[in-house]
Amino acid sequence: MDKFLIRGGIPLRGKVEISGAKNSALPCLAATLLTPDTVTLHNVPYVKDLITLRRLLEDMGATVLTPELRTHKITAKNIETFEAPYELVKTMRASVLALGPLLARFGQAKVSLPGGCAIGTRPIDLHLRAFERLGAVVSLESGDVVATAPQGRLIGAEFSFEKVTVTGTENVMMAAALAQGKTVIRNAAQEPEIEDLAELLNKMGARIKGAGTPVLEIEGVEHLSGAEHTIIPDRIETGTFIVAAAITQGELEIKSCNPEHIKAVIEKLREVGVQIEELNQSTLSVRCSPAGLRAMDVTTEPHPLFPTDMQAQYMALMTQADGTSAVTETIFENRFMHASELIRMGADIQISGNKAMVQGKTPLTGARILASDLRASASLVLAALCASGETLIDRVYHIDRGYETIVDKLSSIGANIERITDGLAAGAERPN
Ligand code: EPZ
Repeated sequence: MDKFLIRGGIPLRGKVEISGAKNSALPCLAATLLTPDTVTLHNVPYVKDLITLRRLLEDMGATVLTPELRTHKITAKNIETFEAPYELVKTMRASVLALGPLLARFGQAKVSLPGGCAIGTRPIDLHLRAFERLGAVVSLESGDVVATAPQGRLIGAEFSFEKVTVTGTENVMMAAALAQGKTVIRNAAQEPEIEDLAELLNKMGARIKGAGTPVLEIEGVEHLSGAEHTIIPDRIETGTFIVAAAITQGELEIKSCNPEHIKAVIEKLREVGVQIEELNQSTLSVRCSPAGLRAMDVTTEPHPLFPTDMQAQYMALMTQADGTSAVTETIFENRFMHASELIRMGADIQISGNKAMVQGKTPLTGARILASDLRASASLVLAALCASGETLIDRVYHIDRGYETIVDKLSSIGANIERITDGLAAGAERPN
Protein backbone atom coordinates (compact mmCIF):
# COMPACT_ATOMS: atom_id res chain seq x y z
CA MET A 1 0.00 0.00 0.00
CA ASP A 2 1.26 3.48 -0.86
CA LYS A 3 2.40 5.88 1.83
CA PHE A 4 3.14 9.61 1.86
CA LEU A 5 6.37 10.87 3.43
CA ILE A 6 5.95 14.56 4.34
CA ARG A 7 8.50 16.92 5.90
CA GLY A 8 6.43 19.76 7.35
CA GLY A 9 6.94 23.34 8.42
CA ILE A 10 7.24 24.80 4.91
CA PRO A 11 4.85 27.68 3.99
CA LEU A 12 3.12 26.75 0.71
CA ARG A 13 3.40 29.38 -1.98
CA GLY A 14 2.32 29.54 -5.62
CA LYS A 15 -0.62 28.69 -7.86
CA VAL A 16 -2.74 25.54 -7.84
CA GLU A 17 -5.41 24.42 -10.34
CA ILE A 18 -8.61 22.84 -9.01
CA SER A 19 -9.84 19.68 -10.76
CA GLY A 20 -13.39 18.71 -11.69
CA ALA A 21 -15.72 17.73 -8.84
CA LYS A 22 -15.62 14.00 -8.04
CA ASN A 23 -19.11 14.20 -6.51
CA SER A 24 -20.54 15.72 -9.66
CA ALA A 25 -18.66 13.56 -12.15
CA LEU A 26 -19.98 10.39 -10.46
CA PRO A 27 -23.72 11.09 -10.97
CA CYS A 28 -23.01 12.63 -14.40
CA LEU A 29 -21.25 9.44 -15.54
CA ALA A 30 -24.18 7.40 -14.19
CA ALA A 31 -26.61 9.64 -16.11
CA THR A 32 -25.10 8.47 -19.42
CA LEU A 33 -26.99 5.17 -18.85
CA LEU A 34 -30.21 7.10 -19.54
CA THR A 35 -29.62 7.39 -23.31
CA PRO A 36 -28.26 5.26 -26.18
CA ASP A 37 -26.62 8.39 -27.60
CA THR A 38 -23.11 9.58 -26.85
CA VAL A 39 -22.64 11.91 -23.87
CA THR A 40 -19.37 13.87 -23.72
CA LEU A 41 -18.17 14.97 -20.28
CA HIS A 42 -15.23 17.37 -19.86
CA ASN A 43 -13.19 18.14 -16.70
CA VAL A 44 -13.72 14.64 -15.27
CA PRO A 45 -11.15 14.35 -12.46
CA TYR A 46 -8.46 11.67 -12.80
CA VAL A 47 -9.24 9.95 -9.49
CA LYS A 48 -9.80 6.35 -8.42
CA ASP A 49 -13.57 6.59 -7.88
CA LEU A 50 -14.15 7.70 -11.48
CA ILE A 51 -11.91 4.94 -12.83
CA THR A 52 -14.04 2.48 -10.84
CA LEU A 53 -17.34 3.88 -12.15
CA ARG A 54 -16.01 3.91 -15.72
CA ARG A 55 -15.20 0.21 -15.34
CA LEU A 56 -18.72 -0.47 -14.07
CA LEU A 57 -20.26 1.23 -17.11
CA GLU A 58 -17.98 -0.74 -19.45
CA ASP A 59 -18.85 -4.00 -17.66
CA MET A 60 -22.51 -3.20 -18.35
CA GLY A 61 -21.75 -2.78 -22.06
CA ALA A 62 -21.19 0.96 -22.44
CA THR A 63 -18.38 2.27 -24.61
CA VAL A 64 -16.10 4.81 -22.90
CA LEU A 65 -13.57 6.76 -24.97
CA THR A 66 -11.17 9.26 -23.47
CA PRO A 67 -9.80 11.39 -26.34
CA GLU A 68 -8.12 13.40 -23.58
CA LEU A 69 -7.47 12.22 -20.06
CA ARG A 70 -10.28 14.31 -18.51
CA THR A 71 -12.77 14.01 -21.38
CA HIS A 72 -15.04 10.97 -21.38
CA LYS A 73 -17.21 10.16 -24.42
CA ILE A 74 -19.70 7.59 -23.16
CA THR A 75 -22.17 5.63 -25.32
CA ALA A 76 -24.54 3.36 -23.36
CA LYS A 77 -26.16 2.00 -26.53
CA ASN A 78 -25.61 -1.71 -26.00
CA ILE A 79 -26.29 -2.27 -22.31
CA GLU A 80 -26.48 -6.04 -21.80
CA THR A 81 -26.48 -6.29 -18.03
CA PHE A 82 -28.44 -4.23 -15.54
CA GLU A 83 -26.30 -5.17 -12.56
CA ALA A 84 -23.69 -3.47 -10.37
CA PRO A 85 -21.83 -6.38 -8.74
CA TYR A 86 -20.65 -6.58 -5.12
CA GLU A 87 -16.96 -6.58 -6.14
CA LEU A 88 -17.35 -3.05 -7.50
CA VAL A 89 -19.97 -1.63 -5.15
CA LYS A 90 -17.95 -2.65 -2.07
CA THR A 91 -15.07 -0.49 -3.30
CA MET A 92 -17.20 2.46 -4.32
CA ARG A 93 -20.63 2.97 -2.78
CA ALA A 94 -21.54 5.66 -5.33
CA SER A 95 -22.16 2.74 -7.71
CA VAL A 96 -25.70 2.86 -6.29
CA LEU A 97 -26.15 5.82 -8.64
CA ALA A 98 -26.63 3.23 -11.41
CA LEU A 99 -29.97 2.21 -9.84
CA GLY A 100 -32.02 5.20 -10.94
CA PRO A 101 -30.88 5.32 -14.58
CA LEU A 102 -31.16 1.53 -15.12
CA LEU A 103 -34.63 1.44 -13.57
CA ALA A 104 -35.76 4.45 -15.62
CA ARG A 105 -34.49 3.31 -19.01
CA PHE A 106 -34.71 -0.50 -18.78
CA GLY A 107 -37.33 -0.99 -16.05
CA GLN A 108 -34.95 -3.17 -14.05
CA ALA A 109 -31.82 -2.93 -11.94
CA LYS A 110 -29.82 -5.16 -9.61
CA VAL A 111 -27.24 -3.42 -7.45
CA SER A 112 -25.37 -4.87 -4.51
CA LEU A 113 -26.50 -3.17 -1.31
CA PRO A 114 -23.48 -1.08 -0.28
CA GLY A 115 -22.13 -1.84 3.15
CA GLY A 116 -21.24 0.87 5.58
CA CYS A 117 -17.89 2.61 5.49
CA ALA A 118 -15.51 4.24 7.96
CA ILE A 119 -17.73 7.29 8.46
CA GLY A 120 -21.02 5.56 9.06
CA THR A 121 -23.60 2.88 8.19
CA ARG A 122 -24.76 4.98 5.23
CA PRO A 123 -28.01 3.16 4.42
CA ILE A 124 -29.84 3.79 1.12
CA ASP A 125 -33.37 3.23 2.47
CA LEU A 126 -34.42 6.73 1.39
CA HIS A 127 -33.36 6.00 -2.22
CA LEU A 128 -35.35 2.74 -2.26
CA ARG A 129 -38.50 4.19 -0.69
CA ALA A 130 -38.43 7.01 -3.25
CA PHE A 131 -38.20 4.49 -6.11
CA GLU A 132 -41.24 2.72 -4.63
CA ARG A 133 -43.12 6.05 -4.64
CA LEU A 134 -42.38 6.12 -8.40
CA GLY A 135 -44.04 2.71 -8.76
CA ALA A 136 -40.96 0.48 -8.57
CA VAL A 137 -41.04 -2.90 -6.82
CA VAL A 138 -37.90 -3.15 -4.70
CA SER A 139 -36.68 -6.25 -2.86
CA LEU A 140 -33.48 -7.38 -1.16
CA GLU A 141 -32.16 -10.70 -2.49
CA SER A 142 -28.94 -12.16 -1.04
CA GLY A 143 -27.45 -8.75 -0.42
CA ASP A 144 -28.57 -7.28 -3.74
CA VAL A 145 -31.18 -4.60 -4.26
CA VAL A 146 -33.49 -5.87 -7.05
CA ALA A 147 -35.77 -3.18 -8.50
CA THR A 148 -38.28 -3.40 -11.33
CA ALA A 149 -40.87 -1.10 -12.90
CA PRO A 150 -43.95 -3.41 -13.20
CA GLN A 151 -45.44 -1.54 -16.13
CA GLY A 152 -41.97 -1.22 -17.68
CA ARG A 153 -41.96 2.51 -16.87
CA LEU A 154 -41.93 4.47 -13.61
CA ILE A 155 -44.84 6.78 -12.77
CA GLY A 156 -44.25 10.34 -11.53
CA ALA A 157 -45.25 11.11 -7.92
CA GLU A 158 -45.03 13.79 -5.24
CA PHE A 159 -43.08 13.04 -2.04
CA SER A 160 -40.70 14.46 0.55
CA PHE A 161 -37.39 13.04 1.69
CA GLU A 162 -37.42 12.51 5.47
CA LYS A 163 -33.72 13.45 5.51
CA VAL A 164 -31.65 15.42 3.04
CA THR A 165 -29.72 12.92 0.94
CA VAL A 166 -27.35 14.01 -1.84
CA THR A 167 -27.08 10.80 -3.87
CA GLY A 168 -30.67 9.95 -2.97
CA THR A 169 -31.79 13.19 -4.63
CA GLU A 170 -29.54 12.49 -7.63
CA ASN A 171 -30.71 8.88 -8.00
CA VAL A 172 -34.39 9.79 -7.94
CA MET A 173 -33.95 12.84 -10.18
CA MET A 174 -32.43 10.56 -12.83
CA ALA A 175 -35.21 7.98 -12.39
CA ALA A 176 -37.98 10.62 -12.61
CA ALA A 177 -36.50 12.15 -15.78
CA LEU A 178 -37.93 9.23 -17.85
CA ALA A 179 -40.98 8.51 -15.70
CA GLN A 180 -44.52 8.96 -17.01
CA GLY A 181 -45.91 12.27 -15.71
CA LYS A 182 -44.69 14.79 -13.16
CA THR A 183 -42.56 14.19 -10.06
CA VAL A 184 -42.19 16.68 -7.22
CA ILE A 185 -39.43 16.03 -4.67
CA ARG A 186 -39.48 18.04 -1.43
CA ASN A 187 -36.62 18.37 1.06
CA ALA A 188 -34.27 17.73 -1.86
CA ALA A 189 -30.51 18.23 -1.42
CA GLN A 190 -29.32 21.63 -2.69
CA GLU A 191 -25.61 20.92 -3.29
CA PRO A 192 -23.97 22.43 -6.43
CA GLU A 193 -23.50 18.85 -7.67
CA ILE A 194 -27.30 18.49 -7.83
CA GLU A 195 -27.49 21.61 -10.02
CA ASP A 196 -24.68 20.33 -12.23
CA LEU A 197 -26.43 16.98 -12.76
CA ALA A 198 -29.76 18.74 -13.50
CA GLU A 199 -28.00 20.94 -16.06
CA LEU A 200 -26.61 17.85 -17.82
CA LEU A 201 -30.00 16.08 -17.73
CA ASN A 202 -31.77 19.15 -19.16
CA LYS A 203 -29.15 19.32 -21.94
CA MET A 204 -30.10 15.67 -22.64
CA GLY A 205 -33.75 16.69 -22.97
CA ALA A 206 -35.01 16.30 -19.42
CA ARG A 207 -37.39 18.85 -17.96
CA ILE A 208 -36.14 19.59 -14.44
CA LYS A 209 -36.83 22.78 -12.47
CA GLY A 210 -35.75 23.87 -8.99
CA ALA A 211 -32.29 22.24 -8.83
CA GLY A 212 -30.35 23.90 -6.01
CA THR A 213 -33.56 24.55 -4.05
CA PRO A 214 -35.42 22.21 -1.66
CA VAL A 215 -38.18 21.52 -4.23
CA LEU A 216 -37.49 19.73 -7.52
CA GLU A 217 -40.15 19.51 -10.28
CA ILE A 218 -39.49 16.94 -12.99
CA GLU A 219 -41.72 16.44 -16.04
CA GLY A 220 -40.96 12.92 -17.31
CA VAL A 221 -40.10 12.57 -21.03
CA GLU A 222 -40.13 9.60 -23.43
CA HIS A 223 -36.40 9.47 -24.04
CA LEU A 224 -33.16 11.40 -23.52
CA SER A 225 -30.48 12.23 -26.09
CA GLY A 226 -26.73 12.79 -26.12
CA ALA A 227 -25.17 16.02 -24.84
CA GLU A 228 -21.86 17.70 -24.02
CA HIS A 229 -21.13 19.05 -20.54
CA THR A 230 -18.25 20.34 -18.42
CA ILE A 231 -18.13 19.19 -14.79
CA ILE A 232 -18.02 21.97 -12.15
CA PRO A 233 -14.84 22.50 -10.10
CA ASP A 234 -14.37 20.49 -6.92
CA ARG A 235 -15.49 22.74 -4.04
CA ILE A 236 -14.05 20.40 -1.39
CA GLU A 237 -10.62 20.29 -3.07
CA THR A 238 -10.85 24.11 -3.18
CA GLY A 239 -11.60 24.28 0.55
CA THR A 240 -8.80 21.83 1.26
CA PHE A 241 -6.23 24.05 -0.50
CA ILE A 242 -7.53 27.15 1.28
CA VAL A 243 -6.82 25.36 4.57
CA ALA A 244 -3.41 24.24 3.21
CA ALA A 245 -2.40 27.88 2.71
CA ALA A 246 -3.68 28.88 6.15
CA ILE A 247 -2.24 25.96 8.14
CA THR A 248 1.26 26.42 6.63
CA GLN A 249 1.08 30.25 6.91
CA GLY A 250 1.71 30.42 3.18
CA GLU A 251 0.12 32.24 0.29
CA LEU A 252 -1.74 30.54 -2.57
CA GLU A 253 -3.58 31.52 -5.71
CA ILE A 254 -6.30 28.89 -6.25
CA LYS A 255 -7.39 28.77 -9.89
CA SER A 256 -10.24 27.13 -11.86
CA CYS A 257 -12.45 27.08 -8.76
CA ASN A 258 -15.96 28.44 -8.12
CA PRO A 259 -16.08 30.54 -4.90
CA GLU A 260 -19.89 30.65 -5.13
CA HIS A 261 -19.98 26.92 -4.28
CA ILE A 262 -18.15 27.26 -0.96
CA LYS A 263 -19.48 30.53 0.48
CA ALA A 264 -20.08 29.01 3.92
CA VAL A 265 -16.50 27.69 4.05
CA ILE A 266 -15.03 31.02 2.92
CA GLU A 267 -17.12 32.96 5.45
CA LYS A 268 -16.11 30.64 8.31
CA LEU A 269 -12.41 30.74 7.41
CA ARG A 270 -12.51 34.55 7.15
CA GLU A 271 -14.01 34.58 10.68
CA VAL A 272 -11.04 32.46 11.79
CA GLY A 273 -8.66 35.05 10.33
CA VAL A 274 -7.73 33.57 6.96
CA GLN A 275 -7.39 36.32 4.37
CA ILE A 276 -9.36 35.19 1.30
CA GLU A 277 -9.78 37.46 -1.71
CA GLU A 278 -11.85 36.63 -4.80
CA LEU A 279 -9.60 37.82 -7.66
CA ASN A 280 -12.26 36.85 -10.23
CA GLN A 281 -15.10 34.33 -10.68
CA SER A 282 -12.71 31.39 -10.73
CA THR A 283 -9.67 32.49 -8.71
CA LEU A 284 -9.05 32.92 -4.99
CA SER A 285 -6.04 34.49 -3.29
CA VAL A 286 -5.42 33.04 0.20
CA ARG A 287 -2.94 34.03 2.89
CA CYS A 288 -2.82 33.66 6.62
CA SER A 289 -3.22 36.74 8.80
CA PRO A 290 -0.04 37.77 10.65
CA ALA A 291 -2.20 38.00 13.79
CA GLY A 292 -2.68 34.22 13.67
CA LEU A 293 -5.91 32.22 13.73
CA ARG A 294 -8.92 32.54 16.06
CA ALA A 295 -10.69 29.43 17.36
CA MET A 296 -14.27 29.42 16.02
CA ASP A 297 -17.01 26.82 16.47
CA VAL A 298 -18.46 25.06 13.42
CA THR A 299 -21.42 22.74 12.82
CA THR A 300 -21.77 20.69 9.64
CA GLU A 301 -25.11 20.94 7.81
CA PRO A 302 -26.49 20.27 4.32
CA HIS A 303 -25.68 22.85 1.62
CA PRO A 304 -25.65 25.85 1.61
CA LEU A 305 -24.27 25.62 5.15
CA PHE A 306 -20.84 24.30 6.22
CA PRO A 307 -20.20 20.95 4.43
CA THR A 308 -19.40 17.76 6.34
CA ASP A 309 -16.70 17.04 3.73
CA MET A 310 -14.71 20.00 5.08
CA GLN A 311 -15.05 19.09 8.79
CA ALA A 312 -11.86 17.04 9.07
CA GLN A 313 -9.77 19.67 7.28
CA TYR A 314 -11.25 22.40 9.51
CA MET A 315 -10.44 20.40 12.65
CA ALA A 316 -6.79 20.19 11.59
CA LEU A 317 -6.73 23.98 11.18
CA MET A 318 -8.33 24.54 14.60
CA THR A 319 -5.35 22.82 16.25
CA GLN A 320 -3.38 25.91 15.12
CA ALA A 321 -5.96 28.48 16.26
CA ASP A 322 -5.75 30.31 19.59
CA GLY A 323 -8.54 29.18 21.92
CA THR A 324 -11.10 26.39 22.15
CA SER A 325 -13.35 25.48 19.22
CA ALA A 326 -16.30 23.07 19.11
CA VAL A 327 -16.54 21.04 15.88
CA THR A 328 -20.01 19.47 15.64
CA GLU A 329 -20.74 16.78 13.03
CA THR A 330 -24.47 16.39 12.32
CA ILE A 331 -24.42 14.42 9.04
CA PHE A 332 -22.46 11.21 9.72
CA GLU A 333 -22.28 9.25 12.94
CA ASN A 334 -18.56 8.38 12.87
CA ARG A 335 -16.65 11.11 11.13
CA PHE A 336 -13.98 11.89 13.75
CA MET A 337 -11.54 9.09 12.80
CA HIS A 338 -8.88 11.73 12.00
CA ALA A 339 -8.99 13.10 15.59
CA SER A 340 -7.03 10.22 17.16
CA GLU A 341 -4.27 10.57 14.57
CA LEU A 342 -4.12 14.36 15.06
CA ILE A 343 -3.80 13.74 18.80
CA ARG A 344 -0.81 11.46 18.13
CA MET A 345 0.82 14.45 16.39
CA GLY A 346 0.29 16.64 19.47
CA ALA A 347 -3.23 18.03 19.03
CA ASP A 348 -5.47 18.52 22.08
CA ILE A 349 -8.93 17.19 21.09
CA GLN A 350 -11.68 15.84 23.33
CA ILE A 351 -14.53 13.93 21.66
CA SER A 352 -17.98 13.74 23.24
CA GLY A 353 -20.69 12.25 21.01
CA ASN A 354 -20.88 14.26 17.79
CA LYS A 355 -18.86 17.15 19.23
CA ALA A 356 -15.07 17.53 19.20
CA MET A 357 -13.56 20.21 21.44
CA VAL A 358 -10.24 21.40 20.00
CA GLN A 359 -7.85 23.31 22.27
CA GLY A 360 -5.32 25.37 20.29
CA LYS A 361 -2.73 26.42 19.51
CA THR A 362 -0.69 23.20 19.93
CA PRO A 363 2.55 22.53 18.05
CA LEU A 364 2.29 19.41 15.87
CA THR A 365 5.18 17.00 15.39
CA GLY A 366 5.61 14.41 12.66
CA ALA A 367 4.59 10.79 13.37
CA ARG A 368 3.62 7.54 11.67
CA ILE A 369 -0.15 7.83 11.11
CA LEU A 370 -2.96 5.97 9.38
CA ALA A 371 -5.51 7.34 6.91
CA SER A 372 -9.04 5.96 7.43
CA ASP A 373 -11.28 7.66 4.84
CA LEU A 374 -11.07 10.23 2.08
CA ARG A 375 -11.45 13.49 3.98
CA ALA A 376 -9.68 12.24 7.12
CA SER A 377 -6.69 11.55 4.84
CA ALA A 378 -6.79 15.16 3.63
CA SER A 379 -6.88 16.36 7.23
CA LEU A 380 -3.78 14.30 8.09
CA VAL A 381 -1.88 15.61 5.04
CA LEU A 382 -2.69 19.18 6.14
CA ALA A 383 -1.49 18.46 9.69
CA ALA A 384 1.71 16.86 8.35
CA LEU A 385 2.40 19.92 6.16
CA CYS A 386 2.19 22.07 9.29
CA ALA A 387 4.02 19.71 11.70
CA SER A 388 7.73 19.90 12.46
CA GLY A 389 9.71 16.87 11.33
CA GLU A 390 8.70 13.88 9.22
CA THR A 391 5.27 12.28 8.95
CA LEU A 392 4.61 8.93 7.28
CA ILE A 393 0.95 8.47 6.34
CA ASP A 394 -0.13 4.92 5.52
CA ARG A 395 -3.17 3.75 3.44
CA VAL A 396 -3.18 6.83 1.23
CA TYR A 397 -5.30 4.93 -1.30
CA HIS A 398 -8.14 6.67 0.53
CA ILE A 399 -6.98 10.09 -0.65
CA ASP A 400 -6.36 8.86 -4.20
CA ARG A 401 -10.12 8.28 -4.46
CA GLY A 402 -10.92 11.96 -4.48
CA TYR A 403 -7.84 14.18 -4.93
CA GLU A 404 -6.24 14.26 -8.37
CA THR A 405 -2.41 14.01 -8.37
CA ILE A 406 -2.24 15.56 -4.93
CA VAL A 407 1.50 14.85 -4.48
CA ASP A 408 2.30 16.71 -7.72
CA LYS A 409 -0.01 19.60 -6.82
CA LEU A 410 1.46 19.99 -3.32
CA SER A 411 5.06 19.63 -4.55
CA SER A 412 4.43 22.35 -7.15
CA ILE A 413 3.60 24.83 -4.37
CA GLY A 414 6.62 23.98 -2.25
CA ALA A 415 5.60 21.01 -0.10
CA ASN A 416 8.23 18.41 0.74
CA ILE A 417 6.12 15.32 0.02
CA GLU A 418 6.81 12.05 -1.74
CA ARG A 419 4.77 8.92 -2.45
CA ILE A 420 6.37 5.72 -1.19
CA THR A 421 5.23 2.68 -3.19
CA ASP A 422 6.23 -0.69 -1.74
CA GLY A 423 9.07 0.91 0.09
CA LEU A 424 10.39 2.85 -2.93
CA ALA A 425 9.94 6.53 -3.67
CA ALA A 426 7.54 6.68 -6.60
CA GLY A 427 8.09 8.98 -9.57
CA ALA A 428 5.81 11.86 -10.51
CA GLU A 429 2.15 10.82 -10.47
CA ARG A 430 1.16 13.20 -13.27
CA PRO A 431 -1.20 11.14 -15.41
CA ASN A 432 0.25 10.05 -18.76
C1 EPZ B 1 -22.72 12.39 -0.56
O1 EPZ B 1 -22.80 11.12 0.07
C2 EPZ B 1 -21.24 12.58 -0.88
N1 EPZ B 1 -20.79 11.53 -1.80
C3 EPZ B 1 -20.43 12.54 0.41
O2 EPZ B 1 -19.08 12.82 0.08
C4 EPZ B 1 -20.94 13.63 1.34
O3 EPZ B 1 -20.24 13.56 2.56
C5 EPZ B 1 -22.44 13.44 1.58
O4 EPZ B 1 -23.14 13.43 0.33
C6 EPZ B 1 -23.04 14.54 2.44
O5 EPZ B 1 -22.83 15.78 1.82
C7 EPZ B 1 -21.09 11.65 -3.10
O6 EPZ B 1 -21.73 12.59 -3.54
C8 EPZ B 1 -20.59 10.55 -3.99
P1 EPZ B 1 -26.22 11.50 2.02
P2 EPZ B 1 -24.27 10.47 0.30
O7 EPZ B 1 -27.13 10.52 1.37
O8 EPZ B 1 -25.19 10.87 -0.77
C9 EPZ B 1 -28.22 9.34 5.76
C10 EPZ B 1 -16.78 12.51 0.08
O9 EPZ B 1 -15.98 12.64 1.00
N2 EPZ B 1 -28.97 8.57 4.74
O10 EPZ B 1 -26.44 12.95 1.75
O11 EPZ B 1 -24.04 9.01 0.53
C11 EPZ B 1 -26.73 9.05 5.70
O12 EPZ B 1 -26.41 7.91 6.47
C12 EPZ B 1 -18.09 11.80 0.34
O13 EPZ B 1 -16.62 12.94 -1.09
C13 EPZ B 1 -29.94 7.66 5.19
O14 EPZ B 1 -30.16 7.49 6.39
O15 EPZ B 1 -24.72 11.15 1.65
C14 EPZ B 1 -26.14 10.32 6.27
O16 EPZ B 1 -26.20 10.26 7.68
C15 EPZ B 1 -18.16 11.22 1.73
N3 EPZ B 1 -30.63 6.95 4.26
C16 EPZ B 1 -27.09 11.41 5.77
O17 EPZ B 1 -28.32 10.74 5.43
C17 EPZ B 1 -30.40 7.11 2.91
O18 EPZ B 1 -31.09 6.43 2.11
C18 EPZ B 1 -26.60 12.17 4.53
O19 EPZ B 1 -26.22 11.20 3.59
C19 EPZ B 1 -29.42 8.02 2.49
C20 EPZ B 1 -28.72 8.75 3.42
